[in-house]
Amino acid sequence: MRNLADDVEKILLTRDEIAEKVRELGAQISADFEGEEVIVACVLRGAFVFCADLVRALTVPATIEFLSASSYGKASVSSGNVQIKSDFEVDIHDKNVLLVEDIMDSGLTLNRLKEMLQVRQPRSLKIVALLDKPERRRVDLQADYIGFTIPDEFVVGYGLDYASQYRQLPDIGVLKPEIYTA
Ligand code: IMP
Ligand code: MG
Repeated sequence: MRNLADDVEKILLTRDEIAEKVRELGAQISADFEGEEVIVACVLRGAFVFCADLVRALTVPATIEFLSASSYGKASVSSGNVQIKSDFEVDIHDKNVLLVEDIMDSGLTLNRLKEMLQVRQPRSLKIVALLDKPERRRVDLQADYIGFTIPDEFVVGYGLDYASQYRQLPDIGVLKPEIYTA
C-alpha cells in the first residue's frame, strides 16, 4: 500500500511544533484584538487546516469566511497571474478582518487578496501566514503575524499540497525530488 509519508524526504516542522506555534499565534492575535470581534478570512484550500486550528486558539469572538485564489495550477512555482476563484459575501466595511494563509511565497496571492479586500474599507486588515519564505518575495509585502520563516524549499503537509496531494499529512515536510520529476 502506498504511504504518503514515504514521499517526504525530511520533516521540517513536526505536528507538536506547529501546535505550539498556533497556540502562540492565537494568544497574540487574541490579545491584539482584545474587546473586538474578528472576521477570519481563510484562504482556500491550503489554509484550511491551519485556520481550523487557529480559530480554536482565539478567545475573541470570530466569524469565519472562505475565499480562494489560484496562481499555481499544477506547477510548484507561481505563474504570477493570481485569479480570485471564490469570494465571500459578508460586508466587511468597518470590521476587523484577519486574512489567514498557509504560506507566503512570492507574496502575489496575498497582495492581490489584500488589494481586493482593502477596497471594501474594513476597519483593519491583518495577515497571518503560518509559513514565510522571504527569499522568494516578488512584491513588497509582509504578514502581520508569521508562524515560521522557512528556507526556499517546497513543502507539503498540514494543508499544503503538491498537485492537490499531501494536504492530510500532520507534519510539514519537504518532498523527495523524484516526486516532482516523476
Ligand atoms: P505566493 O502567491 O507565491 O505567495 O504563493 C502563495 C500560495 O502558493 C500559497 O497559498 C500556497 O498555496 C502556494 N505555495 C507556495 N509555496 C508553497 C510550498 O512550498 N508548498 C505548497 N504550496 C506552496
Ligand atoms: Mg494556497
